[in-house]
Order: sequence, then structure tokens, then C-alpha cells
Amino acid sequence: MPQNIDGKAISAQIKEELKEKVADLKISRGISICLAVIQVGSDPASSVYVGNKKKACAYIGIDSRSYELPEETTQEELLQLIDKLNNEEEVNGILVQLPLPAQIDEDVVIRAIDPRKDVDGFHPQSVGALCIGQPGFVSCTPAGIIQLLKRSGIEIAGRECVIIGRSNIVGKPMALLILRENATVTIAHSRTENLREVTRRADILIVATGKPKMITREYVKEGAVVIDVGIHRNEAGKLCGDVDYEDVAPVCSAITPVPGGVGPMTIAMLMNNCVEAGIAGR
Ligand code: GUN
Repeated sequence: MPQNIDGKAISAQIKEELKEKVADLKISRGISICLAVIQVGSDPASSVYVGNKKKACAYIGIDSRSYELPEETTQEELLQLIDKLNNEEEVNGILVQLPLPAQIDEDVVIRAIDPRKDVDGFHPQSVGALCIGQPGFVSCTPAGIIQLLKRSGIEIAGRECVIIGRSNIVGKPMALLILRENATVTIAHSRTENLREVTRRADILIVATGKPKMITREYVKEGAVVIDVGIHRNEAGKLCGDVDYEDVAPVCSAITPVPGGVGPMTIAMLMNNCVEAGIAGR
């Protein structure tokens, strides 16, 4: 069987490291860190994500402030709140949970967040900094995947990496990050011709298609490392990824499970960004 890339254990380890760091910052430098979390409306999935983020903050020793705004909140009202939080010195990170209701333009909201507090790494300035190799916040899921690979002892430099998916949150920043680690990178997507031929070149295959169990062993080179970003619930209520795990696991050298692979890493990296924001803010 392949190596199990254990996101649950690795994220727990990162959270322990951050907890120690946060305690040390408090004691030795009097620094406390605060994340403001804004949710507009009450989408049940968003409420779960926001709840998990607040729980992680509490565990690590980061203060969290919660802003639960009604579904009918106007863009102007949300922008006013962001402006207020941008100007509050004790707030280090601002997170606006996505998606937002239809009357609010996500791009405008993301751009309104002070890049120094952009712990999601979604601001164009953060993305631009990543693109040209300058310091800035990095989108949490791709940053988490790099940690998964490094902490599992998987070599990145010089290897062929194929990413399926070109979203602003995962695919594009993933390509930039893994390029920074000196991989040779291909981004494939729904319009890619001969997808199987492309994905079979990959030493490291990162899958963010959004389609349950789409990737079967025909897409995977023998001995590849497979990272599954997807998470779906099937009719029976069971979680699965974009990769058909049972079919692919026997042919690869390492694979992330769903759940317990990429998922837990996103929050761990958000916490890491909050700590960095707290340190940079002094
Ligand atoms: N909605 C789904 N994932 C995310 C995320 O990583 N950040 C934010 N702000 N909203 C999300």
C-alpha cells in the first residue's frame, strides 16, 4: 500500500508549534494576536467552517472576534466594517467567509481588506507578491499542500507536477508555490485535451476538479504522489474526494485520504498566517 499522507497528524503538529509560538510571543514580547471573522448570512457549510476557525484560534491562543451579519447586508455596510477593522490596531487578521450573498461583489470586498491583514491571501497584492517571489500571505490550502509534501519527506525540486484546476484559491496559487519549490509545473483544467496523457506525466498530481471520484488509476503514473483537494458527501452521507481512492491507492507511492488529508491543513495554515500577521504588525 502507498504511504498515507496524514493531514490530520501534520496539521495537529503545526498547531502545536503555533500554540508554543503564540505563548512565547505573549510572554516574551507582550504580543497578542487577534483574528476578525466575518460571516454574511447563515449558509450551514460556512457556519461549520467559521466555527472550526474560531475553535482553532481558541486552541492556539489567538483571540477571535466574530461578526455575524444578516443575509441582506449591503456591500456598503460590509465595506464599512472592513474599513473599521483595517484601522483597529489590535486586529491582525481579517477573514471574510466566502461565498457572499449575490448583492455583494466578492472582488470588491477582497480588495478592501488591508493586505497586511489579508490572512486568506486572496488580495491581488498578496497574489502578485507570490507571483514575483516577494513576501506576502499565501492562500491557505496550497500552502498546506506544500507543508504536507515537505513534512512527509516528499522531494519536490525537479519533479513533474500536474495540477488539475485553475481556481484563484487553489489551482493558480498552487502552481506558483510549487514552482517556487523548483518543480516543473503544468496546470490542466476542464478544457485540457488528452487529460490522461497530461496527468500521467506527473510525479506529483494535485487534483482540484470539484468532481467526485473523477480521477481513476488511468490518470495516474505508477508510483506518483497524489494529493486530493476535493471533498464531497455522497448519497449515503460518506465523504469522498476528487480522486477514486480505492482505485488509485494501489498504483501510487503516496496519497492523501479524504477526510484527513488536505482539509485539516487549510485551518492550520490560516493560523500560521495569523501568527505571521501578528508578528509583522509590531
Ligand atoms: N470559503 C471556502 N473556503 C474559504 C477560505 O479558505 N476562505 C474564505 N474566506 N472563505 C472560504
